[in-house]
Amino acid sequence: MPLNRLGELLRQEVVSIEAAGTAKGHEKIVTRIVPASGTKGPRFCLEGFGDRQFIRMNSNSYLGLSLTTELIHAEEAAAQKYGVGPGAVRFISGTYQPHVELEKQLAAFHRREACMITSAAYTSVVGVILSLTTPETGIISDELNHNCIINGIRLAQPKIKKVYPHLNVAALESQIKECIGQAQGLIVITDGIFSMRGAVAPLAEISEIVRRYDAHFPRNIVLMVDDSHGVGAFGATGRGTEEYCKAETSDILVGTLGKAFGVNGGYIVSSNPLIAFLREKNPLYIYTNPITPSEAAAALKSLELVQSDRGAHLLGHLRTMTTRFKKGLVDLGYESIASEHPVVPLFVRDTEKTSALVKFLLDHDILATGLNYPIVPKGDQLVRFQVSAAHTAEDIDQVLGVLGQFKSI
Ligand SMILES: Cc1ncc(COP(=O)(O)O)c(C=O)c1O
Repeated sequence: MPLNRLGELLRQEVVSIEAAGTAKGHEKIVTRIVPASGTKGPRFCLEGFGDRQFIRMNSNSYLGLSLTTELIHAEEAAAQKYGVGPGAVRFISGTYQPHVELEKQLAAFHRREACMITSAAYTSVVGVILSLTTPETGIISDELNHNCIINGIRLAQPKIKKVYPHLNVAALESQIKECIGQAQGLIVITDGIFSMRGAVAPLAEISEIVRRYDAHFPRNIVLMVDDSHGVGAFGATGRGTEEYCKAETSDILVGTLGKAFGVNGGYIVSSNPLIAFLREKNPLYIYTNPITPSEAAAALKSLELVQSDRGAHLLGHLRTMTTRFKKGLVDLGYESIASEHPVVPLFVRDTEKTSALVKFLLDHDILATGLNYPIVPKGDQLVRFQVSAAHTAEDIDQVLGVLGQFKSI
């Protein structure tokens, strides 16, 4: 069927997104990666840009692990042994030894009883929310939480839904109080690191408030943290925002293997009963393939590296590069936020100017991400930079040099 009427309506919608300047537009296609050499970190070549080599300031691979030979070899060896796909979902013989070992190691890394890996952090979050929400559940969420949390809540249709102003723990407390007597159980959900600007959730305070009111709810208050941008990259030993904030461990922690760990996939760590329940109830675990055994093997190697001296060195270098970049940015007169996370926002607060800065950077061989409405609220338009342990001081200074040129136009 031609879908002629619907097709035309959808085409018009795309045209209006483009006219508003908020389209994501054509995807840039990486054709080659030039390995780091001397004082230069890795460079990326793109289709349609000839031999030009770009510094990537928009990679989630915060420790640079996605390009390390150890991980590549671990993935290759497992692919030779198990093949390149699981062949089925977990309960239909799709569970391989690296999956189980990875779950064991991730639970130990986060000092939890149990872990469940899924195909993505996105599906981890949605699956947990869907599985735990009953017709008597209330959910309370930070207004800048990631899209997976927003859509998870929409799908779960809780009895009560409340959204508190970004990072505002006093508002969170009031909302919890309003739910007393109205819901059997509550789920309080926050990102650990907010992906758009690298803000850090005040997890110690949030956890304290949750514990204070927990006794009012027969099905408890569950504190759930999506720390996709924190795990591996943040905290003294890479254990994420909880470690950074010295917070009590949350009831459910979701992480991704696709950012600092450099591979792909998501995971949930929690108590034994909760993970056992999710293995029986979570549709986004039961009815969809897991990550490949070879991805699991690469993630195991990554976890081993993060906990080694090399991991400590990479974390230290990441912190040094992040401080260097943020200081340079602020010294040039740009607006950012006070956070030590390698997501470094540069607030432009205007859609056209954000696009102009991203283009200027591209013209000068730098890849960074412009975030416009509706991805961020109107007035908060920004260019998001992501520092990596693969960057050298020379790379960071080169980017700052280009930002300095833009300032003087
Ligand atoms: C807070 C947060 N949660 C979840 C995700 C999704 O991670 P994954 O790619 O593993 O699904 C992201 C990715 O951008 C994120 O920023």
